[in-house]
Amino acid sequence: MSNSGIDELKTELKKAINAIDELKTRLAQKEKEITEKSKLAVLGELGLGFAHEIKNPLSAITTYLDLLNNSISDESQKSILKKLRHSVLEIDIITNNMLFYTKELKAEISSIDLEALIDETIASLEVAIGRKNLKVTKQISHRVINGDYQLLKRSLVNLIANAADANQNEGSILVETITSNGQCCIAVEDTGTGILDPGKLFQPFHTTKAKGMGLGLALVKKFMQAQSGNVSLKPPKTFNGARFELTLPIKQ
Ligand SMILES: Nc1ncnc2c1ncn2[C@@H]1O[C@H](COP(=O)(O)OP(=O)(O)OP(=O)(O)O)[C@@H](O)[C@H]1O
Ligand SMILES: [Mg+2]
Repeated sequence: MSNSGIDELKTELKKAINAIDELKTRLAQKEKEITEKSKLAVLGELGLGFAHEIKNPLSAITTYLDLLNNSISDESQKSILKKLRHSVLEIDIITNNMLFYTKELKAEISSIDLEALIDETIASLEVAIGRKNLKVTKQISHRVINGDYQLLKRSLVNLIANAADANQNEGSILVETITSNGQCCIAVEDTGTGILDPGKLFQPFHTTKAKGMGLGLALVKKFMQAQSGNVSLKPPKTFNGARFELTLPIKQ
């Protein structure tokens, strides 16, 4: 074969190798998409049925545990009940997240008193917060917002539960509301480890926890976008851990 023929062959081979490389990249991408989709499909089919079945018995267990707690005075028994109550809360958060992840959302916008919402959310997480020695404080500069109460509450539940998880046995969590650039911002900041891998945050099924589903932040994003809002990771202002900000337009 002549030199020019060999050169031509080399060029064609290079082109073919490039094409194969491109194909490999696309295949890897497709494979990832299919895995995500099949995970979602499995979660949708199995999870939804499971979550529906478990909701009612779970709320009955919570009621009975609270009744039992009120009728006993022995501290060691109370501490066992507290642990049980915390496990039930963990199952409840996971179940709710599974239900919401597969559900089509339609925001119901109403006027929300942010302080009442924050108090109610912190109270519902009392067992998670009380399990560790965590100090939760709030600073309210912006009071009323138009948004979906349940979606906002579930977003805060996930952010505060993450903040509690990120702290060791002691620490602080700050929940504050401020106004900036025509938006209301509800921030949750903690004294925890900070974010080790910010690139994957908000992706479903990304978790660094042994018992995590990796659905919390993906859901918060879905909840906030359904109300024309958003969620983002910001540099901390008060502590050294993580700061997540929920934003909603002030006029809706
Ligand atoms: N406040 C935080 N401090 C440190 N890391 C965090 C914080 N919030 C989230 N993360 C990191 O982001 C990951 C994803 O969070 P996400 O809430 O989506 O899932 P999860 O908490 O692991 O599981 P799930 O919420 O489904 O129970 C966590 O596993 C953790 O590594
Ligand atoms: Mg979480």
